[in-house]
Amino acid sequence: MRLGVNIDHIATLRQARRTVEPDPVHAVGLVERAGANGIVCHLREDRRHILDRDLELLRKVVTSHLNLEMAATEEMVRIAIETGPDMVTIVPEKREEVTTEGGLDVRAAGSQLKEFIDKLKAHDIVVSLFVDPQLEVLKECRRLGADFVELHTGGYANIQSESEAAQEAARIREMAMAARKFGLRVSAGHGLTYQNVEAIASIPEIEELNIGHSIMARAIFDGLSKAVGDMVRLLRS
Ligand code: PXP
Repeated sequence: MRLGVNIDHIATLRQARRTVEPDPVHAVGLVERAGANGIVCHLREDRRHILDRDLELLRKVVTSHLNLEMAATEEMVRIAIETGPDMVTIVPEKREEVTTEGGLDVRAAGSQLKEFIDKLKAHDIVVSLFVDPQLEVLKECRRLGADFVELHTGGYANIQSESEAAQEAARIREMAMAARKFGLRVSAGHGLTYQNVEAIASIPEIEELNIGHSIMARAIFDGLSKAVGDMVRLLRS
């Protein structure tokens, strides 16, 4: 199980003061040395946390794997092609949301999404679609020619009851198996924490988890290296 660490929250803290610190680029070496397998960042249309300059520098310093989350827009596809991340994860984006709220509406997205996917793949960028774990949605992802699906675990993370969470994890596993049958590779993320990650981390069809908020929350008190190391150990145990 690989871990991608989302570093947007470091940029959020910087942008709270529109200053130069903390710099998300400085996190890269620490996160990689602590055992993470990649860096994830989301360049939002409103540039509320990660800035264009961050992305340019991240491409230069990330030696593991750089996963760029972005909306399916002409501007973002151009930036992705110019920057050359290892992977692009296409996410839905609304200006007013606090964080990405749901999976991509692949059925409504139409032919433009397919065009964007084809374009990114033609530039050797692996394309992942962030989607709700639903069979019809996964079928559509196959039709669109995505390489990966990232299954949205926000619904799972919001469940309070242990038995219901176990049921939802079992359903996510079924969807991960279905995605693999469709020839898609599978990752997952959103809302995963040190407390709830185990059931998702033990799904063999899922190759990678992308985690941000919980790791950064622990990092404030324990330091980034320890917070990342703790999550790496949890995923491998
Ligand atoms: N995966 C995707 C596609 C996301 O948009 C996010 C949030 O930026 C994450 C994973 C990480 O979510 P969290 O910060 O809740 O761990």
